[in-house]
Amino acid sequence: MRKIALDMVVTENRRLTDSYSLLILKASEKDIDAAMEGCTSCENFDFSEIRPGQFVQVRIDDSKTTFLRRPVSVNFVSPADKELHLLVRRAGEGTRALCEISKDEKVNVVLPLGNGFTLPDTPEAYRPLLVGGGVGVAPLLYLGKVLVDMGAQPSFLLAAKTAEDLLLLNSFREYGAVYISTDNGSIGVPGLVTENPALTRPWDMIYCCGPMPMMKAVARIARQNSTPCEVSLENTMACGLGACLCCVEDTADHGNVCVCTEGPVFSTERLKWFD
Ligand code: FES
Repeated sequence: MRKIALDMVVTENRRLTDSYSLLILKASEKDIDAAMEGCTSCENFDFSEIRPGQFVQVRIDDSKTTFLRRPVSVNFVSPADKELHLLVRRAGEGTRALCEISKDEKVNVVLPLGNGFTLPDTPEAYRPLLVGGGVGVAPLLYLGKVLVDMGAQPSFLLAAKTAEDLLLLNSFREYGAVYISTDNGSIGVPGLVTENPALTRPWDMIYCCGPMPMMKAVARIARQNSTPCEVSLENTMACGLGACLCCVEDTADHGNVCVCTEGPVFSTERLKWFD
């Protein structure tokens, strides 16, 4: 699918917690046409072709300190409304500016980027577990929705420090059973996500996104149980297009590869995590 730089209007900026905001962006036909200009052979841009697990690069306008676009996972897509949801964590100047953007302002996004999660060839009776922690829950909501639309039966295992830190819980519950782990036990199983008994059930696949120690621990358990596992890496990115090489990851089959173009999703068997 062609990558485009598209102006989108902020139709809603929902502050979920002190650290997270959910931006809902909408594209007009006019802005899509403008983004496609100059490409006579291109099909019209279709939001339904955005794959779960892909990401966008958002331009931060009017900032004296942030010059590079910021990579943000696709949290949800509504193709009929030409709508994109981005879950943004305030991590620095750029993302703080993004979290404070007002309704009706425009942001420019390059999309869709990266590969996305592997979807099943035979979704009937496919029962995967989608494991997320922190902002890592972001790509799992759209993945869950697409899997359900295909006829699969996803379940979710969400991890957070406290009940208040769980993000979009009711949205996840629309697409499957939700298991929960919190550090302080304020909801769900107390302790790390790896201590949740749901993790070791016989799943067809584990998809995981979150902090690196969490992903490595989940991948190790999946391996012990002979469950295929895919993770979405959050390596530092700059260009997002395979040009600057700041996001490389060493793989068992192809050596150093760019996470922004070859990933961000990898089968854990490709990563050198178990040596
Ligand atoms: Fe520049 Fe990946 S972010 S090569």
